[in-house]
Amino acid sequence: MDGTLTEKVLEDHLVDGEIATGEEIGITVDQTIAHDLTGTMAWLQFEALGLDEVQVEVAGQHCDHQTYQPDFKVSDDHRFLRSAAGTFGAYFARPGTGILHQVHKENFTAPGKTLIGADSHTPTAGGLGCLGIGTGGLDVATAMGGAPYYLDVPEVVNVRLQGELPEWSTAKDVILELLRRFSVKHGVGKVFEYTGPGVKALSAHERTVIANMGTELGATSSVFPTDERTKEFFERLGRPEDYVELTPDDDAEYDDEVVVDLSEIEPLIACPSMPDNVVPVRDVAGKETEQVLVGSCTNGAYEDILPVAKMFQDREVAKRTETIIAPGSKQAAEMLARNGFTAELMAAGVNFSEATCGACIGAGHVPASDTVSVRTFNRNFEGRSGMEDDVVYLCSPEVAAATALRGEITDPRDLADDLDDLEAPGFEYPERYIGASESDIIMPEQAVDDGLVKGPNIDEVPLKDPLGSDLAGPALLKMPDNITTDHIIPATQEVSVYRSNVPKLSEFTLKRVDETFAARAAEADGGFLVAGENYGQGSSREHAALCPMYLGIHGVLARSFARIHKSNLINFGLLPLTIDEETYENIEQGDDIELVDDALAVVESGQQTFTVRVNNSWEANAHLDANERERELLAAGGKLPHTRREFADGV
Ligand code: F3S
Repeated sequence: MDGTLTEKVLEDHLVDGEIATGEEIGITVDQTIAHDLTGTMAWLQFEALGLDEVQVEVAGQHCDHQTYQPDFKVSDDHRFLRSAAGTFGAYFARPGTGILHQVHKENFTAPGKTLIGADSHTPTAGGLGCLGIGTGGLDVATAMGGAPYYLDVPEVVNVRLQGELPEWSTAKDVILELLRRFSVKHGVGKVFEYTGPGVKALSAHERTVIANMGTELGATSSVFPTDERTKEFFERLGRPEDYVELTPDDDAEYDDEVVVDLSEIEPLIACPSMPDNVVPVRDVAGKETEQVLVGSCTNGAYEDILPVAKMFQDREVAKRTETIIAPGSKQAAEMLARNGFTAELMAAGVNFSEATCGACIGAGHVPASDTVSVRTFNRNFEGRSGMEDDVVYLCSPEVAAATALRGEITDPRDLADDLDDLEAPGFEYPERYIGASESDIIMPEQAVDDGLVKGPNIDEVPLKDPLGSDLAGPALLKMPDNITTDHIIPATQEVSVYRSNVPKLSEFTLKRVDETFAARAAEADGGFLVAGENYGQGSSREHAALCPMYLGIHGVLARSFARIHKSNLINFGLLPLTIDEETYENIEQGDDIELVDDALAVVESGQQTFTVRVNNSWEANAHLDANERERELLAAGGKLPHTRREFADGV
């Protein structure tokens, strides 16, 4: 990765280790963000670390996932977050200000900076040359305290863009094309760095759309160089001073290269229920559609909604199709209103939502049973919409708009053939960014609370004991490939209201896979999970490790792990052990599992292999791929007990 943009940013922030692919390094963190579902725990952890003030340049706390306040628990969380941000020196974006990536992009993202966020779509910032990495809230908590962030030096893939997008094809189709070619696993351990003449054909906003959904490739991050078009964007944002030019060296060496000819990209759509299940829109055209949703951190910006407004001008959405627009930020909503588009959209039959993640995680606008929902979002994992057997498609705003107009999945090129006066809306910036940010973002110096305010649903952070020597227990649950963090702890409203109350939240652990799991785990008082490939893919939700920890799970035996979730397991003191296919096939749910060796000794000695004895009758190997620092965390019972001890020791 010599001379790549990624290397340059990492090199600038390096405090521990050497930059060599696969090796662990520590980097300084310039900026952090968290949202309401991850933030409460992050601030409780920050408080538990005994620190007075955040140590990063910018720390942001947003309320976007659950903005509707259906009961006091949610309102109490929001108030706690506001009080924590004010107490410890972070900015606070009130509920309704917008989705964290959009709001941060509009106000704080800057090229050349490092940003870690307790949300997996933090790489959105890479569209503006900022290295954004999604992680767990605990990493955000310690980074806010000034601790380095540790990561394995990623492989850097050169995504060489050439040509220009044809009419009706968009940035969303570019990332869908990459998902079509590869898969949700292809990007694990990699940064996708975009280069080539085609970069200039994309606006800075379009680059953030691509960087956002690079997360669905499993990538550590995605990053674009900065240029005149980035500069123009910062000028429009009213932050020209934040712009810096950032390019890779001419002779930069990449680990891999992919070429994408933009001129060959056509409108694409991800079919149920994986973002990589991508086909041309025409392959599925004609499916009756009951719901169309435009919004999310991928396509919720003014620049994403404007094409929809243009296509809806003097037209009406189909009577069968409930069409909802959830702006990515209140600023986007305000600009649409000031420019007259809100009234046009309403006249076309659109239902406006507040600026929120909302429907993206099943918090509202749950589709009707056995109906098709077409969304401009980035994820369509089964059940994520809040409906178990949902049928959710992902596409660009233009495809969503064409679908809403016809009431069935529609390639906008075909609609344009039918409607003489329908022109491709193309890309357009607002004349200048104006907006709600100043009134809606509370800067630390504007703090309104007197100390931390905790409601009755906010419980203290559970701490795990140091790792024991004899680990044994039943295989409490055997799961297939691609179990997501949504399976482990759903982000639906019913569940996530308990995000600051771990004992209660734990009752929902893996309920979507097996109703009885949490009760069985609590009764067994120790045991293991068994899973297939890519365990823990999806969001960075640390509760997906915290709740199994609370239930006494010793570790997970899986064919492979998703990156963020594996590090969350280690952060909470759970052993992530890799097993081969034969072992996976032979272990049955309910089998007795025993780690034959002294677990603490294996972890501390740096050994990679555990011997697993099953039902006292056969043995197999399980591998622990963890470095020295991670082993220290595991031995201590996780990162929080470990960091607390370091602070107590004055390290
Ligand atoms: Fe929110 Fe969905 Fe993005 S939950 S942060 S809009 S992936």
